[in-house]
Amino acid sequence: MSRIPLIIDCDPGVDDAVALFLAFAAPDALDLLAITTVAGNVSADQTARNARILRQIAGREDVPVYAGAQGPLVREPVEAGHFHGETGLGDLALFEPGEPVAPGHAAQAIVRLVMARPAGAVTLAVIGPMTNVALAMALEPAIVPRLGRIVAMGGARREGGNVTASSEYNIHADPHAAGKVIGSGVPVVLLGLDATHQVRATQARIAAIRALATPPALAIAQLLDFSVRVEKVLVGWDAPPVHDPCTIAYLLAPELFVTRPARVGIETASPLTLGHTAVEFRLEDLSAATVHWATEIDHEGVFALLLRRLAP
Ligand code: RIB
Ligand code: CA
Repeated sequence: MSRIPLIIDCDPGVDDAVALFLAFAAPDALDLLAITTVAGNVSADQTARNARILRQIAGREDVPVYAGAQGPLVREPVEAGHFHGETGLGDLALFEPGEPVAPGHAAQAIVRLVMARPAGAVTLAVIGPMTNVALAMALEPAIVPRLGRIVAMGGARREGGNVTASSEYNIHADPHAAGKVIGSGVPVVLLGLDATHQVRATQARIAAIRALATPPALAIAQLLDFSVRVEKVLVGWDAPPVHDPCTIAYLLAPELFVTRPARVGIETASPLTLGHTAVEFRLEDLSAATVHWATEIDHEGVFALLLRRLAP
Protein backbone atom coordinates (compact mmCIF):
# COMPACT_ATOMS: atom_id res chain seq x y z
CA MET A 1 0.00 0.00 0.00
CA SER A 2 1.51 3.41 -0.91
CA ARG A 3 1.85 5.86 1.94
CA ILE A 4 -0.86 8.50 2.36
CA PRO A 5 0.49 12.12 2.45
CA LEU A 6 -1.36 13.38 5.52
CA ILE A 7 -1.83 16.59 7.50
CA ILE A 8 -3.60 16.24 10.88
CA ASP A 9 -5.37 19.37 12.10
CA CYS A 10 -6.19 18.99 15.77
CA ASP A 11 -6.96 20.52 19.18
CA PRO A 12 -5.29 18.08 21.63
CA GLY A 13 -7.38 17.09 23.57
CA VAL A 14 -7.48 13.63 25.09
CA ASP A 15 -8.92 11.81 22.08
CA ASP A 16 -6.81 13.90 19.69
CA ALA A 17 -3.82 12.47 21.59
CA VAL A 18 -4.95 8.92 20.85
CA ALA A 19 -5.39 9.85 17.19
CA LEU A 20 -1.90 11.36 17.02
CA PHE A 21 -0.28 8.36 18.73
CA LEU A 22 -2.02 6.03 16.28
CA ALA A 23 -0.82 8.12 13.33
CA PHE A 24 2.73 8.38 14.72
CA ALA A 25 2.76 4.56 14.96
CA ALA A 26 1.93 4.05 11.29
CA PRO A 27 4.89 5.51 9.35
CA ASP A 28 4.65 2.67 6.83
CA ALA A 29 1.14 3.76 5.84
CA LEU A 30 1.02 7.50 6.64
CA ASP A 31 3.47 10.10 5.30
CA LEU A 32 2.81 12.63 8.07
CA LEU A 33 3.57 15.98 6.40
CA ALA A 34 2.57 18.09 9.41
CA ILE A 35 0.50 18.44 12.52
CA THR A 36 -1.45 21.71 12.56
CA THR A 37 -3.09 22.87 15.76
CA VAL A 38 -6.06 25.10 16.47
CA ALA A 39 -7.87 26.65 19.43
CA GLY A 40 -10.61 24.28 20.55
CA ASN A 41 -10.70 22.02 23.55
CA VAL A 42 -8.14 24.37 25.15
CA SER A 43 -6.34 27.51 23.94
CA ALA A 44 -4.32 27.66 20.74
CA ASP A 45 -1.08 28.03 22.70
CA GLN A 46 -1.92 24.96 24.77
CA THR A 47 -2.96 22.77 21.81
CA ALA A 48 0.30 23.65 20.04
CA ARG A 49 2.28 22.78 23.20
CA ASN A 50 0.31 19.56 23.68
CA ALA A 51 0.94 18.41 20.10
CA ARG A 52 4.69 18.93 20.61
CA ILE A 53 4.61 17.02 23.92
CA LEU A 54 2.75 14.09 22.32
CA ARG A 55 5.14 14.13 19.34
CA GLN A 56 8.11 13.92 21.75
CA ILE A 57 6.55 11.05 23.75
CA ALA A 58 6.15 9.18 20.45
CA GLY A 59 9.67 10.05 19.30
CA ARG A 60 8.37 11.67 16.12
CA GLU A 61 10.05 15.06 16.17
CA ASP A 62 10.49 14.54 12.43
CA VAL A 63 6.92 15.76 12.01
CA PRO A 64 6.60 19.57 12.12
CA VAL A 65 3.92 21.18 14.30
CA TYR A 66 2.41 24.46 13.07
CA ALA A 67 0.32 26.57 15.43
CA GLY A 68 -2.90 27.99 14.02
CA ALA A 69 -6.03 29.95 14.71
CA GLN A 70 -6.47 31.53 18.13
CA GLY A 71 -10.26 31.29 17.89
CA PRO A 72 -13.25 30.65 15.64
CA LEU A 73 -14.09 32.72 12.56
CA VAL A 74 -17.18 34.47 13.90
CA ARG A 75 -18.67 33.11 17.11
CA GLU A 76 -17.14 33.54 20.55
CA PRO A 77 -14.67 30.81 21.59
CA VAL A 78 -16.01 27.79 23.46
CA GLU A 79 -13.52 25.40 25.06
CA ALA A 80 -13.99 21.90 26.48
CA GLY A 81 -11.54 21.83 29.39
CA HIS A 82 -14.19 20.14 31.55
CA PHE A 83 -13.82 17.04 29.36
CA HIS A 84 -10.10 17.24 28.63
CA GLY A 85 -8.65 18.76 31.80
CA GLU A 86 -7.21 22.23 32.33
CA THR A 87 -4.13 21.47 30.17
CA GLY A 88 -6.12 19.54 27.60
CA LEU A 89 -4.24 16.32 28.35
CA GLY A 90 -6.13 15.08 31.37
CA ASP A 91 -3.89 14.58 34.39
CA LEU A 92 -0.81 13.71 32.34
CA ALA A 93 2.39 15.13 33.83
CA LEU A 94 3.45 17.61 31.15
CA PHE A 95 6.93 18.89 30.35
CA GLU A 96 8.39 21.68 28.22
CA PRO A 97 8.73 20.13 24.75
CA GLY A 98 12.24 20.12 23.30
CA GLU A 99 11.33 21.22 19.80
CA PRO A 100 9.57 24.52 18.98
CA VAL A 101 6.63 25.00 16.66
CA ALA A 102 7.59 25.36 13.00
CA PRO A 103 7.54 28.93 11.65
CA GLY A 104 4.39 30.24 10.00
CA HIS A 105 0.67 29.91 10.59
CA ALA A 106 -1.00 26.52 10.27
CA ALA A 107 -3.23 27.79 7.45
CA GLN A 108 -0.16 28.88 5.48
CA ALA A 109 1.44 25.49 6.07
CA ILE A 110 -1.66 23.68 4.81
CA VAL A 111 -1.65 25.81 1.64
CA ARG A 112 2.07 25.31 1.03
CA LEU A 113 2.01 21.54 1.60
CA VAL A 114 -1.09 20.96 -0.54
CA MET A 115 0.11 23.17 -3.41
CA ALA A 116 3.54 21.53 -3.41
CA ARG A 117 2.11 18.09 -4.18
CA PRO A 118 0.19 16.70 -7.15
CA ALA A 119 -3.54 17.33 -7.33
CA GLY A 120 -5.43 14.86 -5.16
CA ALA A 121 -2.34 13.68 -3.29
CA VAL A 122 -2.84 15.18 0.16
CA THR A 123 -5.36 14.00 2.76
CA LEU A 124 -6.42 16.26 5.64
CA ALA A 125 -7.55 14.63 8.88
CA VAL A 126 -9.52 17.28 10.81
CA ILE A 127 -10.26 16.45 14.44
CA GLY A 128 -10.99 19.83 15.99
CA PRO A 129 -12.80 22.99 14.99
CA MET A 130 -12.28 23.53 11.23
CA THR A 131 -10.98 27.09 11.54
CA ASN A 132 -7.49 26.48 10.08
CA VAL A 133 -8.90 24.65 7.08
CA ALA A 134 -11.43 27.39 6.34
CA LEU A 135 -8.66 30.00 6.62
CA ALA A 136 -6.43 27.99 4.28
CA MET A 137 -9.23 27.77 1.71
CA ALA A 138 -9.78 31.53 1.95
CA LEU A 139 -6.03 32.20 1.72
CA GLU A 140 -5.62 30.04 -1.40
CA PRO A 141 -8.86 28.85 -3.05
CA ALA A 142 -6.77 26.66 -5.37
CA ILE A 143 -6.32 24.15 -2.57
CA VAL A 144 -10.00 23.20 -2.85
CA PRO A 145 -9.69 21.37 -6.20
CA ARG A 146 -6.17 20.23 -5.26
CA LEU A 147 -6.94 18.55 -1.90
CA GLY A 148 -7.50 14.80 -2.22
CA ARG A 149 -9.98 14.43 0.61
CA ILE A 150 -10.84 15.45 4.14
CA VAL A 151 -11.55 12.87 6.82
CA ALA A 152 -13.11 14.74 9.73
CA MET A 153 -14.60 13.99 13.11
CA GLY A 154 -17.68 16.13 13.59
CA GLY A 155 -21.42 16.44 13.62
CA ALA A 156 -24.31 14.29 14.72
CA ARG A 157 -27.57 13.05 13.19
CA ARG A 158 -29.22 10.15 15.01
CA GLU A 159 -27.25 10.70 18.24
CA GLY A 160 -28.06 14.35 18.82
CA GLY A 161 -25.39 16.77 20.07
CA ASN A 162 -22.82 16.51 22.83
CA VAL A 163 -22.59 20.25 23.52
CA THR A 164 -26.22 21.25 22.93
CA ALA A 165 -29.22 19.12 22.12
CA SER A 166 -28.43 19.43 18.43
CA SER A 167 -24.71 20.16 17.95
CA GLU A 168 -21.46 18.28 18.35
CA TYR A 169 -18.41 20.12 19.72
CA ASN A 170 -16.13 20.40 16.66
CA ILE A 171 -18.92 21.89 14.56
CA HIS A 172 -20.42 23.91 17.42
CA ALA A 173 -17.04 25.49 18.22
CA ASP A 174 -16.76 27.00 14.72
CA PRO A 175 -19.93 26.45 12.68
CA HIS A 176 -18.99 29.06 10.07
CA ALA A 177 -15.69 27.32 9.36
CA ALA A 178 -17.42 23.92 9.26
CA GLY A 179 -19.96 25.25 6.75
CA LYS A 180 -17.23 26.54 4.46
CA VAL A 181 -15.14 23.36 4.65
CA ILE A 182 -17.92 20.78 4.41
CA GLY A 183 -19.61 22.81 1.65
CA SER A 184 -16.36 23.45 -0.26
CA GLY A 185 -16.76 20.56 -2.67
CA VAL A 186 -13.68 18.73 -1.36
CA PRO A 187 -14.60 15.07 -0.82
CA VAL A 188 -15.31 14.73 2.91
CA VAL A 189 -15.70 11.59 5.00
CA LEU A 190 -17.49 12.83 8.10
CA LEU A 191 -17.34 10.68 11.23
CA GLY A 192 -19.99 12.08 13.54
CA LEU A 193 -21.26 10.96 16.90
CA ASP A 194 -23.55 8.43 15.17
CA ALA A 195 -20.36 6.49 14.47
CA THR A 196 -17.90 7.51 17.18
CA HIS A 197 -20.33 6.80 20.02
CA GLN A 198 -19.98 3.14 19.00
CA VAL A 199 -16.26 3.25 19.94
CA ARG A 200 -15.95 3.12 23.72
CA ALA A 201 -12.91 2.96 26.02
CA THR A 202 -13.89 0.11 28.31
CA GLN A 203 -11.76 -0.86 31.30
CA ALA A 204 -10.66 -4.03 29.50
CA ARG A 205 -9.54 -2.10 26.44
CA ILE A 206 -7.66 0.45 28.56
CA ALA A 207 -5.94 -2.37 30.47
CA ALA A 208 -4.89 -4.01 27.20
CA ILE A 209 -3.37 -0.73 26.00
CA ARG A 210 -1.60 -0.19 29.34
CA ALA A 211 -0.14 -3.70 29.17
CA LEU A 212 1.81 -2.70 26.05
CA ALA A 213 3.90 -0.58 28.47
CA THR A 214 5.41 1.78 25.87
CA PRO A 215 5.44 5.53 26.61
CA PRO A 216 2.61 6.25 24.10
CA ALA A 217 0.53 3.30 25.39
CA LEU A 218 0.99 4.33 29.03
CA ALA A 219 0.07 7.91 28.16
CA ILE A 220 -3.05 6.77 26.31
CA ALA A 221 -4.09 4.54 29.23
CA GLN A 222 -3.71 7.43 31.68
CA LEU A 223 -5.60 9.80 29.38
CA LEU A 224 -8.45 7.33 28.91
CA ASP A 225 -8.61 6.65 32.65
CA PHE A 226 -9.09 10.39 33.06
CA SER A 227 -11.87 10.34 30.45
CA VAL A 228 -13.59 7.44 32.23
CA ARG A 229 -13.79 9.48 35.43
CA VAL A 230 -14.95 12.66 33.73
CA GLU A 231 -17.49 10.92 31.47
CA LYS A 232 -19.07 9.18 34.47
CA VAL A 233 -19.50 12.47 36.30
CA LEU A 234 -20.57 14.65 33.36
CA VAL A 235 -22.53 12.21 31.21
CA GLY A 236 -23.16 9.17 33.40
CA TRP A 237 -21.52 6.73 30.99
CA ASP A 238 -19.10 4.05 32.20
CA ALA A 239 -17.02 3.98 29.00
CA PRO A 240 -16.18 7.23 27.19
CA PRO A 241 -16.43 7.38 23.40
CA VAL A 242 -13.05 7.81 21.70
CA HIS A 243 -13.88 10.07 18.78
CA ASP A 244 -10.77 11.37 17.02
CA PRO A 245 -8.71 8.20 16.43
CA CYS A 246 -11.59 6.93 14.29
CA THR A 247 -10.39 9.28 11.54
CA ILE A 248 -6.92 7.71 11.53
CA ALA A 249 -8.42 4.23 11.78
CA TYR A 250 -10.51 5.07 8.71
CA LEU A 251 -7.35 5.93 6.77
CA LEU A 252 -5.62 2.73 7.89
CA ALA A 253 -8.60 0.37 7.62
CA PRO A 254 -11.59 1.85 5.77
CA GLU A 255 -13.17 -1.60 5.67
CA LEU A 256 -14.03 -1.12 9.36
CA PHE A 257 -16.48 1.65 8.45
CA VAL A 258 -19.85 1.96 6.74
CA THR A 259 -20.58 5.32 5.14
CA ARG A 260 -23.32 6.66 2.90
CA PRO A 261 -23.51 9.67 0.57
CA ALA A 262 -25.15 12.73 2.07
CA ARG A 263 -25.63 16.45 1.80
CA VAL A 264 -24.63 18.10 5.09
CA GLY A 265 -25.75 21.61 5.97
CA ILE A 266 -24.52 23.51 9.03
CA GLU A 267 -26.74 25.81 11.08
CA THR A 268 -25.02 29.16 11.64
CA ALA A 269 -27.94 31.53 12.28
CA SER A 270 -30.00 30.03 15.07
CA PRO A 271 -28.75 30.48 18.66
CA LEU A 272 -30.86 27.47 19.61
CA THR A 273 -29.38 25.06 17.05
CA LEU A 274 -26.04 26.72 16.22
CA GLY A 275 -23.68 24.09 14.79
CA HIS A 276 -26.40 21.56 13.99
CA THR A 277 -25.46 19.21 11.11
CA ALA A 278 -28.44 18.64 8.83
CA VAL A 279 -27.46 15.28 7.29
CA GLU A 280 -29.65 14.58 4.24
CA PHE A 281 -29.54 11.16 2.58
CA ARG A 282 -32.45 11.77 0.19
CA LEU A 283 -30.52 13.08 -2.81
CA GLU A 284 -31.63 13.05 -6.42
CA ASP A 285 -28.10 12.25 -7.59
CA LEU A 286 -26.16 10.23 -5.01
CA SER A 287 -23.06 10.33 -7.21
CA ALA A 288 -22.97 14.13 -6.85
CA ALA A 289 -22.67 13.96 -3.06
CA THR A 290 -19.28 15.22 -1.81
CA VAL A 291 -19.86 14.09 1.78
CA HIS A 292 -19.93 10.50 3.01
CA TRP A 293 -21.46 10.17 6.46
CA ALA A 294 -20.28 7.30 8.68
CA THR A 295 -23.12 5.23 10.07
CA GLU A 296 -21.36 2.15 11.46
CA ILE A 297 -17.92 1.34 12.88
CA ASP A 298 -16.47 -2.07 13.67
CA HIS A 299 -15.31 -0.92 17.11
CA GLU A 300 -13.66 -4.23 17.94
CA GLY A 301 -11.66 -3.84 14.76
CA VAL A 302 -10.68 -0.28 15.62
CA PHE A 303 -9.31 -1.29 19.03
CA ALA A 304 -7.55 -4.32 17.55
CA LEU A 305 -5.92 -1.97 15.03
CA LEU A 306 -4.91 0.44 17.82
CA LEU A 307 -3.35 -2.39 19.86
CA ARG A 308 -1.50 -3.76 16.82
CA ARG A 309 -0.12 -0.35 15.91
CA LEU A 310 0.86 0.56 19.51
CA ALA A 311 2.52 -2.79 20.21
CA PRO A 312 6.30 -2.46 20.77
O1 RIB B 1 -17.19 15.92 19.91
C1 RIB B 1 -15.93 15.31 19.98
C2 RIB B 1 -14.86 16.22 19.48
O2 RIB B 1 -14.80 17.37 20.30
C3 RIB B 1 -13.46 15.60 19.55
O3 RIB B 1 -12.66 16.09 18.51
C4 RIB B 1 -12.94 16.07 20.88
O4 RIB B 1 -11.51 16.21 20.87
C5 RIB B 1 -13.57 17.42 21.00
O5 RIB B 1 -12.73 18.33 20.35
CA1 CA C 1 -10.46 17.03 18.94
